Amino acid sequence: MLDTPHPTPEAPTLDPFVLAKALSGQHFIGGRYVPARSGKTFPVVNPATGQEVATAADGDAADVDAAVEDAARAQKEWAKTAARKRGALVAQCAAVIRLHVEELGRLIALETGKALRTESRVEANTVADILEFFGGLGGELKGETVPFAPEVLSMTVREPLGVVGAIIPWNVPMLLMALKIAPALVAGNSVVVKSAEEAPLAVLRICELMNRVLPAGVFNMVSGFGPECGAPLVSHPKVRKVTFTGSVETGKIVYRTAAEKLIPVTLELGGKSPMIVFEDCDFDKTLAGALTSMRFTRQGQSCTAASRIYVERPIFQRFVDAMAEKVDKMVMGDPLDEKTDIGTIISDDQFNKVKTFIDEGKATTGAEGRACSAMPDDPALKKGLFIQPHIFTGLTKESRLVREEIFGPVTCIFPFDDPEEVLAEANDSEYGLAASLWTNNLKVGLNLAHKLEAGLVQINQNLVVQANLSYGGVKSSGLGKEASLEAMLEHFTHKKTIMINMA
Ligand code: NAI
Ligand code: MG
Repeated sequence: MLDTPHPTPEAPTLDPFVLAKALSGQHFIGGRYVPARSGKTFPVVNPATGQEVATAADGDAADVDAAVEDAARAQKEWAKTAARKRGALVAQCAAVIRLHVEELGRLIALETGKALRTESRVEANTVADILEFFGGLGGELKGETVPFAPEVLSMTVREPLGVVGAIIPWNVPMLLMALKIAPALVAGNSVVVKSAEEAPLAVLRICELMNRVLPAGVFNMVSGFGPECGAPLVSHPKVRKVTFTGSVETGKIVYRTAAEKLIPVTLELGGKSPMIVFEDCDFDKTLAGALTSMRFTRQGQSCTAASRIYVERPIFQRFVDAMAEKVDKMVMGDPLDEKTDIGTIISDDQFNKVKTFIDEGKATTGAEGRACSAMPDDPALKKGLFIQPHIFTGLTKESRLVREEIFGPVTCIFPFDDPEEVLAEANDSEYGLAASLWTNNLKVGLNLAHKLEAGLVQINQNLVVQANLSYGGVKSSGLGKEASLEAMLEHFTHKKTIMINMA
């Protein structure tokens, strides 16, 4: 429980600008807000206007050390708390989050540029859902008895790993954090989260809200940049597990450091997810599915975005035209406006990266890139990081747009003639996170589902992460699973064997 007053409002606060200011310049360590030891901060920018709305504590190794030491102290008592009690407390956190859904939705919309109605509010609700799900799993932290010999009691028990370091990205920071901290905490670990430099505010508020319920020091958060703040968290001797979501490049750095310490890691590293559409699909449902699959409402900033769409030739052109027409009707604008479907790109860096891909696609001989959805005309949004969704056709499979993760509102559509050919194309990727198939021929669908190299294959739907379903990729998309009971057991506990010889 908290013992010092916080700089933030106690009640849910619907003005995200006020809340952003109040959250400025702080880590959350040992149950309280604290500034960086160095006193340094960095700006948090509203990508819809380019204006600074807050600052964040610019964390370094000293802050990380303080957070990990507090987490290590708190973990000892937390691990002694009965598992179901820990779960009940995490479920109680979910109830607090539910009361703050609107607040959190607005705050994340402000700092990330994701539209409130289509994305941000949904994400806040999902956080509560994930906490509720894992909150109910405390009783599943069970061991086994092993029939070793009649006079020997041989059993296994599930033990927490200790302090978990969680490094999160900016695209769906609240949800991706929940997938890490909820199972880690229920399993009896304490956590130190390093937030993404582009989106440190809403997750910080969640940390405070959950600390209203959890014992101090069990859930801590530092903000800062990757090399200065993320790297020391991974290398800290008292961090006994790292869970990371982000780029392949950074994931490999994290993995290397973890290898030196011989600690387990979970890595979720994005994708280049194929969507395969057969002529016999339910056309309208598939079209609607293509829009959600591509996550245009999130400006395509999704690791599972259907950024390669393969359509059976007889309906190829009809599909491309219909999709362009649908995307055209989506409203791009102020993320906080209820009318807005599509907000902004997160940062200048990402904006430039996506633009480069689009320019490259447009300059490719034989390719066509259709820009859909009108740019906002509100002068207040003149400096906003808006990019029109682009639908490319005519690219070859060697194109960088087809091979690399763009993480922007860009999809490439191709015609295909037979299932084996499209299977080979779909699997011809460094990534293997997700895939979707759209057909009423379930024999064909199931056959391909088995052969697709992906952690998650959906037929006739493409939902975002759901609690209770294991989620995680193969190939360069990562290591390990999240979101499920097995994920909690396998990635946040170890099995100890105890034998008692009573002969
Ligand atoms: P990133 O992987 O560099 O950043 C993700 C997190 O890792 C951030 O919290 C960052 O501060 C931290 N980090 C960076 N360097 C680190 C280091 N040396 N040690 C420890 N932590 C470190 O991703 P970034 O630069 O934000 O985006 C680049 C690309 O990565 C995107 O364009 C996208 O393709 C991909 N990406 C994939 C995500 C996914 O959901 N799988 C999420 C975010 C980005
Ligand atoms: Mg980076």
